[in-house]
Amino acid sequence: MKVTVVGAGAVGATCADNIARKELATELVLLDIREGFAEGKALDMTQTAALLGFDTKITGSTNDYSKTAGSDVVVITSGLPRKPGMTREELIGVNAGIVKSVAENILKYSPEAIIVVISNPMDTMTYLALQSTGLPKNKIIGMGGILDSARFKCYLSATLGANASDLNAIVVGGHGDTTMIPLIRYATWNSAPVTDFLTEEEQQKIVADTMVGGATLTKLIGTSAWYAPGAAGAALVEAIVRDEKKLFSCCVALDGEYGQSDICLGVPVIIGKNGVEKIIDYKLNATEQAAFDKSAAAVRSMNDVLKTL
Ligand code: LAC
Repeated sequence: MKVTVVGAGAVGATCADNIARKELATELVLLDIREGFAEGKALDMTQTAALLGFDTKITGSTNDYSKTAGSDVVVITSGLPRKPGMTREELIGVNAGIVKSVAENILKYSPEAIIVVISNPMDTMTYLALQSTGLPKNKIIGMGGILDSARFKCYLSATLGANASDLNAIVVGGHGDTTMIPLIRYATWNSAPVTDFLTEEEQQKIVADTMVGGATLTKLIGTSAWYAPGAAGAALVEAIVRDEKKLFSCCVALDGEYGQSDICLGVPVIIGKNGVEKIIDYKLNATEQAAFDKSAAAVRSMNDVLKTL
């Protein structure tokens, strides 16, 4: 298996580090536009192999896409991160150009690759990658819902006093502070509905904290988070390369599912060796569907901005 991570910044490097530690690839390429940057990070990671005991061969590349040739999976993290007070959507102008050119370069050398998009605004960047590569829709997957669901479980676990891995909880919709939809009605603590153990007020706070999960970190750190985004990206790569048939919330092209078309948005999907193998139809109630439609409208207006760039 060959995996490429484009963008050796904090998210890309953390994702690559997780991929190497878990030996998800025999060959891992880290590519960045900054001279020597990816080579340096790749060498630093390679020097952990003797300590951590992994065999993955890591190569760094300064914008030489020929090194990425024949990749099975490519993770795109390139672009500017958020600064405190900034929304993910404000990054569209700069990041759209970067993501489009990265996707096109990747396609030249790895026409069979499955592409994972992490760059923000993620839902629109996923849509852009789909349009600019013309790849089948199962091969373009936006990573937002896995991260948002992990943050949802983090806040649930703190309030419930539960072990996070005993929780099942999913966030659908967009990967934006106002567009994501933590489906608390569906969340369980080892099969029991979490709503049985939480007051209405606690539930509202958990949902609100989840929605601004990224912004809270940006305020604290001064830039976008990377540990959970990098780990979530690696979890997605793992499900693909190990053909895990995992049910994740991912941003995928919708063609009538959940009442939406011509858009990429977060829904529950099965991820395996073919990328998106199936979209699972959760039975949203009227309130959840209305929130989903509202989220779709906001993402669609962001997608429209692409036409003006
Ligand atoms: C976040 C960025 C990666 O949510 O979108 O932290």
